[in-house]
Amino acid sequence: MAASNQKTILVTGGAGFIGSHTVVELLQQDYNVVIVDDLSNSSPIAIDRIRQIVGSQRADNLVFYQINVLNAEALGKVFEDHDIFAIIHFAGFKAVGESTQKPLEYYWNNVTGLMTTANVARAHGVKRIIFSSSATVYGEPAFIPITEDCPMAKTTNPYGETKAMCERILTDLFRADDEYSVVLLRYFNPIGAHESGLIGEDPAGIPNNLLPYVSQVAVGKLKEIHVFGNDYPTPDGTGVRDYIHVVDLARGHVAALRWLEGTVGTGTVEDAASLVGPTDEEGLRHGVAVFNLGTGTGTSVLQIIHAFEEACGHELPYVIDPRRPGDIAENYAACDKARTEMGWVAEYDIKRMCEDSWRWQSQNPNGFEG
Ligand code: UD1
Repeated sequence: MAASNQKTILVTGGAGFIGSHTVVELLQQDYNVVIVDDLSNSSPIAIDRIRQIVGSQRADNLVFYQINVLNAEALGKVFEDHDIFAIIHFAGFKAVGESTQKPLEYYWNNVTGLMTTANVARAHGVKRIIFSSSATVYGEPAFIPITEDCPMAKTTNPYGETKAMCERILTDLFRADDEYSVVLLRYFNPIGAHESGLIGEDPAGIPNNLLPYVSQVAVGKLKEIHVFGNDYPTPDGTGVRDYIHVVDLARGHVAALRWLEGTVGTGTVEDAASLVGPTDEEGLRHGVAVFNLGTGTGTSVLQIIHAFEEACGHELPYVIDPRRPGDIAENYAACDKARTEMGWVAEYDIKRMCEDSWRWQSQNPNGFEG
């Protein structure tokens, strides 16, 4: 790692879809990055591509360890070898359907993984954690647009429950010890890819989420899109979501880091889920801050299909299927808090998200494997 005045950020799950884009943004902002990833659902090629995007000089500020976060001993060694300022914790399983079949694996990996990371970090005096949460913690949302004040609700699957549990664990850490600085980022639906076409979403097997499915139909790997229900109380009857470009989302993590460094915002983040803590003599913030990361705009399944058709230049076959169990009609975020407090706002629209997804998919029809 090159000599640098900048802070070192530990990114668990940094080879994954959101993680890899976040690492690019961190390196471009001159942070040092240590990635810990077991590559169980990601490729080492993603790490090479990150280096390619940022260029050789900044690539020197990146170190990668193939480690599972449940391995406390190996993780401890990483903390001994690097002066970690903060952790961005992405490592976790993320397939909603699979989580209903393998609840123990999901709770073990996601919840014990976070606890192991936090425990090892605490032993090395690291108490700053940015956590990869999800709008899934709002369950069937009490109101739309969803603000951070919207109550956390009954989650519909073990994956969602692990996100809610991890949020509560991190909140209790601060309640017990006000040296903690926790930022909980609740993502809406991340799509798109880096504009270089070098990194993007690379799901294993048949995709569960809409965008990777649509892009695999577009590239000819899958026959037709299955639209899950067209009888929802939405303008065209199909489900409405708040899709956010993964690069915007990645920049939201840099904004969160700046927020806990005390270089943006007022620190007055009170709402139903956040707890304001002290600012220390170095100006660093303590507490639990919750931010929604979305665009504030809802887009239907059919609108996504049509936007993707524009991007790829041909029609996409689709069929209407019954509703998927557990799906809600509509959700989109109110993102005022992230804008006013962190100075963060999503820049890219659906057209750009589909263009970038298509560039990634068409240049890498089989993901990182070629
Ligand atoms: C799900 C998870 C969310 C997770 C996100 C990852 C829940 C309830 N949802 O969101 O926590 O963060 O994935 O991006 O836990 N659709 C189709 N055909 C398809 C796939 C999806 O019509 O083949 C529709 C769905 O019915 C939905 C929309 O597309 O209306 C988006 O679905 P999807 O991409 O799976 O994301 P979510 O279910 O919103």
